[in-house]
Amino acid sequence: MTGGTMITLTINGAEHSVDADPGTTLLDVLREKLSMTGAKKGCNQGVCGACTVLLDGKTARACLSLALNCTGREITTIEGISDNGEASVLQQSFVDNGAVQCGFCTSGMIVTSHALLKCNPNPSVEEVQEGLSGNLCRCSGYRKIIDAVRSAAEG
Ligand code: FES
Ligand code: FES
Repeated sequence: MTGGTMITLTINGAEHSVDADPGTTLLDVLREKLSMTGAKKGCNQGVCGACTVLLDGKTARACLSLALNCTGREITTIEGISDNGEASVLQQSFVDNGAVQCGFCTSGMIVTSHALLKCNPNPSVEEVQEGLSGNLCRCSGYRKIIDAVRSAAEG
């Protein structure tokens, strides 16, 4: 189905043009038009953080962002956070610390943690907790997620 509006987005450094309804969210463009399924659709109403991406380096809920409003901005998804196709230190730390259970929250957690570590390279436990307070893990793996962020910072 075509929506009649061409939307051009810069995602992970590359330009993508999609034909979509002007009311389409960035999350739906990523997942359904561009097959970038790293950002997850959890609540689809801005609560869980599973859809977190970076807009101009700042965390944003892709489910609440209209794709049309993201033109001209630098969008970074979990797919753009790897290190030349290899797991980044932060991503590897999630694996090494057993911070991934079902994995549904993981990309949002990593994108948010990535932004946190850019601003604060050595956060305390409390600062990681605060930084990740908008990301929900239904498997309740918070302790290991915090450990993963802290060990990535130390590493
Ligand atoms: S899917 Fe966007 S915040 Fe839950
Ligand atoms: S690992 Fe399952 S929701 Fe977090």
